[in-house]
Amino acid sequence: MTATKGLEGIVAASSSISSIIDGVLTYRGIDIDDLAENATFEEVAYLLWYGKLPNRSELAKLQEQLDAYTAIPEGVIQQIKLYPKDTNSMAALRTAISSLALYDESANEMTAEANQLKAIKLQAQLPAVVAAFARIREGKDPIAPKKGVSIAHNFLYMLTGKDPEEVAVKALDQALVLHADHELNASTFAARVTVATLSDIYSGVTSAIGALKGPLHGGANEAVMVMLEEIGSFANVEPYINNALANKQKIMGFGHRVYKNGDPRAKHLQKMSQELGKLTGNLELYEMSIKIEELVTGQKGLKPNVDFYSASVYTTLGIARDLFTPIFAISRVSGWSAHILEQYENNRLIRPRADYIGPVNAKYIPIDER
Ligand code: ACO
Repeated sequence: MTATKGLEGIVAASSSISSIIDGVLTYRGIDIDDLAENATFEEVAYLLWYGKLPNRSELAKLQEQLDAYTAIPEGVIQQIKLYPKDTNSMAALRTAISSLALYDESANEMTAEANQLKAIKLQAQLPAVVAAFARIREGKDPIAPKKGVSIAHNFLYMLTGKDPEEVAVKALDQALVLHADHELNASTFAARVTVATLSDIYSGVTSAIGALKGPLHGGANEAVMVMLEEIGSFANVEPYINNALANKQKIMGFGHRVYKNGDPRAKHLQKMSQELGKLTGNLELYEMSIKIEELVTGQKGLKPNVDFYSASVYTTLGIARDLFTPIFAISRVSGWSAHILEQYENNRLIRPRADYIGPVNAKYIPIDER
């Protein structure tokens, strides 16, 4: 038995939710470029869960369900108020989503219908949790969700208390579409491993949030912004990147385990970053990002991934840096839950083997002889 480091190239599950074939990403067979240009995030979530695009009445029903479940239990709000003020935002999200299960009577019900409804509840509540956390840590009260508006609109509304501009809603909605699912990425795999023991959907999503938090996965979007802030100005891009590459540092937002010729989602975020920069009259972050790409691709052949341009997009939308990865989760919970439902449908415990490389024939030594 020999191990494949990082399971690279290992096919670990069959799935009909999303695919990456020859560098092309599809959700249920539909090219991500097509969805990014045309679909709303709610349509995409429906597509991931049910395997087809919703018609008008199906979409209206989903909207009604999202409206019914977006408000989070008072108990969870009270708990968030007890978190230390400087709590890491992804740690807060991981804890609060786990807590939601305590207030859901159907948390451990395992019928297909109950699990489907919990997928919708989690999708509805996750943005409300992020917004409540962001406000409570600033000493503000959480804002009750609106009804009849999109998840992107509602999230920005619950964050600020103001109806967002259409352009901000459109940008966030497109970002949510782009992040919704990605085959067997680390967090989705973590979710599938957890529920393959027949544990509940909240446990699966909690595991996934823990996996997304790391900077080699979803945490990279925040790390990109930290880097942009450290660089500070366009003039400093070249010396900073040259120095980082010379010191063999990883440049966050570049490289990918599966895409070697570029992440198809990055170009949409790049365009969005440029458009938002033009609208706000401040293109500095965009221009710095373009220069970083030129240098990293030129010297290392590495292309930007989904996280790279999302940093400048979210910053231009006025969103705090440490909410970038939680926003990734707001979108990816659609994919996580679709994969969890798929895992339940055709479940087998996920339990691989390890290539043991430790000592052999060792003997127990009594404590006084050590
Ligand atoms: N900057 C500089 N060098 C890099 C980078 C990078 N961002 N990414 C890979 N490399 C180099 C590695 O140092 C390694 O070089 P070596 O062979 O000389 O040692 C080589 O490219 C191969 O890289 P690995 O880390 O082995 O590739 P792996 O497939 O394991 O990792 C990963 C992929 C984690 C995405 C990696 O490219 C990385 O760390 N990128 C930065 C973090 C990031 O942006 N993560 C988000 C990914 S997208 C997502 O999860 C949503």
